[in-house]
Amino acid sequence: MNTYIKQYTKKELVEDTGRISWTSPSNIALIKYWGKHGKQLPCNPSVSFTLSESKTTMDFSWSIKDGGKDEIVLDFYFENKKNALFEEKIRKFLEDNFELFPFLKYLSLEIESVNSFPHSAGIASSASSMSALALGLCSIENQAFDLNLSDGELLEKATYVARLASGSAARSIFPGIVSWGKSDLEEIKSSDLIASKVEGIADIFKNYHDSIVIVDAGEKAVSSRAGHALMEDHPFREVRFQHANKQLENLITIMKTGDVDKFCEIVETEALELHGLMMNSTPSYTLMRPNTLAVIEKVRKFRSEKGLALCFTLDAGPNVHLLYPDNISREVTEFINSEITEFAENGLVIHDRVGSGPERFL
Ligand code: PMV
Repeated sequence: MNTYIKQYTKKELVEDTGRISWTSPSNIALIKYWGKHGKQLPCNPSVSFTLSESKTTMDFSWSIKDGGKDEIVLDFYFENKKNALFEEKIRKFLEDNFELFPFLKYLSLEIESVNSFPHSAGIASSASSMSALALGLCSIENQAFDLNLSDGELLEKATYVARLASGSAARSIFPGIVSWGKSDLEEIKSSDLIASKVEGIADIFKNYHDSIVIVDAGEKAVSSRAGHALMEDHPFREVRFQHANKQLENLITIMKTGDVDKFCEIVETEALELHGLMMNSTPSYTLMRPNTLAVIEKVRKFRSEKGLALCFTLDAGPNVHLLYPDNISREVTEFINSEITEFAENGLVIHDRVGSGPERFL
């Protein structure tokens, strides 16, 4: 039995019209999820920093619908304009997961979504938007049918739902350092179905910075969906999944002790391993751009010359995330301004940091 499916009838509807709003952040993976199976299940556990500034705000309103029970009535607006493409994607997701939200039989939805970062910044917005969507849907259900879910229960269903929409979105439901996927490590409480906060991490990582250098704001040539699929027959598949588990174990150990130098080593290896997998896929592809490598070289030079723990990571794209502790932020900001901005498209660097998770407004 799926405990995330609640049964109720139209008679139990206590609020037949209403509005709520959630803001939910993006996240950056330190140990990467790359390769999936079944219904959005990861081939290895991952860990990320939940961010603070890069986020999606979604306003939801609902009312009794006129249409037939099996038809989803949805209006979707992105950045104040009706967006047919996103609306279709969300409708398809709701159709595929109809049993999770029986309220869709009775209610019509209007959703308005806005990102805090420019649409053309090349930042993957699926983690923030799909986690906001999941939180909104779960809150509507809870409120309209007076299900009386505790905060913990609501977030648990939301991480489950977010995962179905976009794997990495499952992690954005929680603040700080978050894992998703099954692991034998005692610090990892997540499963393949839901993400969970990682406790016991040294304070220095709780307000880490992530300055995102927008090397290329364009659409990626190969989507994450296609990239995950290429892991199915990848020659390094098993080695990768084993190594990701080992890397996770090492990372958690050093994040408990607060060793920022070893943190740099593991995080950079992970980023390059992800891109190595792409380059070794059939067909092979490269998402890094010349300026991605230029930034990486600069970061390594800065670290060895200054002895400061600045490192980089990459998601499935050309942009470079610069990770560093708060106590070196002055030196790093000067370095970014003097040596890095020139490699960013239109000089765009988004200064983000570890954040406190989603927030409900209405
Ligand atoms: O959540 P998806 O399907 O967009 O995949 C995300 C993959 C990476 O960003 C490369 C890694 C991760 O764990 O976030």
